[in-house]
Amino acid sequence: MSVSASTPTTRAPHIPVLLDEVIAGLVPAEGEIHVDGTFGAGGYTKAILEKGAAVFAFDRDPDAIVEGEALAAACGGRLTLVPERFSRMRQALADRGVDAVDGVTLDIGVSSMQLDRADRGFSFQADGPLDMRMSREGESAADFVNEASEEAIADVIYRYGEEPKSRRIARAIVAARPLSRTGELAEIVRKALGWHQGMKKDPATRTFQAIRIYLNEELQELEDGLEAAEQVLAPGGRLAVVTFHSLEDRVVKRFLKERSGATPAGSRHLPERAARGPAPSFENVAKPVRAGEAETNINPRARSATMRVARRTAASPWTGGEGKPA
Ligand SMILES: C[S@@+](CC[C@H](N)C(=O)[O-])C[C@H]1O[C@@H](n2cnc3c(N)ncnc32)[C@H](O)[C@@H]1O
Repeated sequence: MSVSASTPTTRAPHIPVLLDEVIAGLVPAEGEIHVDGTFGAGGYTKAILEKGAAVFAFDRDPDAIVEGEALAAACGGRLTLVPERFSRMRQALADRGVDAVDGVTLDIGVSSMQLDRADRGFSFQADGPLDMRMSREGESAADFVNEASEEAIADVIYRYGEEPKSRRIARAIVAARPLSRTGELAEIVRKALGWHQGMKKDPATRTFQAIRIYLNEELQELEDGLEAAEQVLAPGGRLAVVTFHSLEDRVVKRFLKERSGATPAGSRHLPERAARGPAPSFENVAKPVRAGEAETNINPRARSATMRVARRTAASPWTGGEGKPA
């Protein structure tokens, strides 16, 4: 990819979060096949490869795939890069002759490379075009803030940013249209919320997070990705998911609770078996793991990370994945 010379860009390497914990949860071994649904800078993939397993690494960001090509070339065929959304892993694996895998890992959200490249438009700290599209396709942040109604903008900021002052921000955005730069949007939000030097958290954080999650359909992707993992994992296969805020963690927690049979049964009027629902498709659901002080001191991004792991049972998947019934 090319980064324009005029675009301020820093290249901090992406430090994989909870790497040891993810590998301890996945226990990759020689001869196994794993899916890394969120390749990014390849931190998890490299660690899985080091254990002798083969990896199908997905990323919807074409830049991440291009940057992974040197690693794939050095792996003697054990790494296959897949330029797809992880929600499509079942079909993408089938296209490559694979119908079951031993591990699936998802590390949700944006990478440091995406955040640090101002021209990708994810950052409120470095000025760039209002873009925020991981796959570089579809509606951009500029399209959204310039074309959506005030109400729709407020709803997105409230729902995906959990921002209580979403209406005030949406009003300020609509009054300032058209917008084309991340710097403009950040300033509008700061002004609307009364930013002052020394504030602990930049008030633009929640609004940028919200628009990014909305444009990239991140919560729907996560739900579909969990169902796809349920489809492709072999009995005994492991799932490890790292999330960075409560909206995402809630989706993973609810999924594993339900699929492991921990959700209270439905109606007491139904026969006992029907009320219990299908047989659990996951077991050994571990307690959530958070980064320790040593890691958060080196990598502040790890502060908000939560990892959940579970093991696939031999039961049928509850749904067919990719929108199909089981
Ligand atoms: C947090 S980074 C992953 C970092 C990686 N674990 C590492 O150690 O380098 C998330 C990556 O997943 C990609 N991504 C996010 N959602 C995706 C999806 N639904 N399908 C495929 N890739 C996705 C992003 O483009 C980004 O490169």
